[in-house]
Amino acid sequence: MATETLSAAAPYIIQQNYAAYTEEQHGTWAELVGRVLPELQKHAAQEYLDGFEIIGLQRDRLPNLASISARLAPRTGWSSTPVSGFLPAPAFFEMLGARRFPTTTWLRSRDSLEYTPEPDIFHDVFGHVPMHAHPVFANFLEHYGRVCASISDPAILEKLGRIFWYTVEFGLIRQNGAIKVYGSGLISSHSECRNVVDGHCATRDFDLDEVLNTPVKVDELHKLLFVVSSFNQIYDSMHEAERRAASGRL
Ligand SMILES: [Fe+2]
Repeated sequence: MATETLSAAAPYIIQQNYAAYTEEQHGTWAELVGRVLPELQKHAAQEYLDGFEIIGLQRDRLPNLASISARLAPRTGWSSTPVSGFLPAPAFFEMLGARRFPTTTWLRSRDSLEYTPEPDIFHDVFGHVPMHAHPVFANFLEHYGRVCASISDPAILEKLGRIFWYTVEFGLIRQNGAIKVYGSGLISSHSECRNVVDGHCATRDFDLDEVLNTPVKVDELHKLLFVVSSFNQIYDSMHEAERRAASGRL
């Protein structure tokens, strides 16, 4: 849980200097939110939209991570913990297993609203953190971190990475007969979200074997994504993946 001491991740933990954000940066945040939120109100999973309110995200001000964490803690025990940048896998998994989401504090510039090569605070907080208010998703993500932290075989970790990619980053869910987005890469990217909403991406019911056998491509819009029927499905699938990994069947 959040009170555990971090070892692998400790060197990467920083403070968020909230007062240092400029009005220009707050304006960029507002622009980023403004260009995707109308789509999300139509196409995002209800749990994402509920989480957005629960954690108190503001549309026109960058998020203060301490305030976000204070709202999340009584709900699910997760925090949004500031880190210096991209984390090595062991540090990343250690933080997930401790319910501390590694969160970057820098914001992309106005000239690159659509794409950044590395995650920024918009991707990390706007894209990811609202889902951490949902108890089942929160449990799944902690479990994912714990399982991955216990594995060193790169081939197994790559397969487990596909579960993360096709749920946490680019997951879809069926709600009231419609396909809704909940993955952070869809939530925080106008073009990735439109790609799904406009029907340019095939969708299939989430199947663990198929997900494990679908390599991740990072340099093009998705051609295939997977739809869960509930968040219990990803929670259960991760337990199944854990069993398979433990018995050498992954
Ligand atoms: Fe992400």
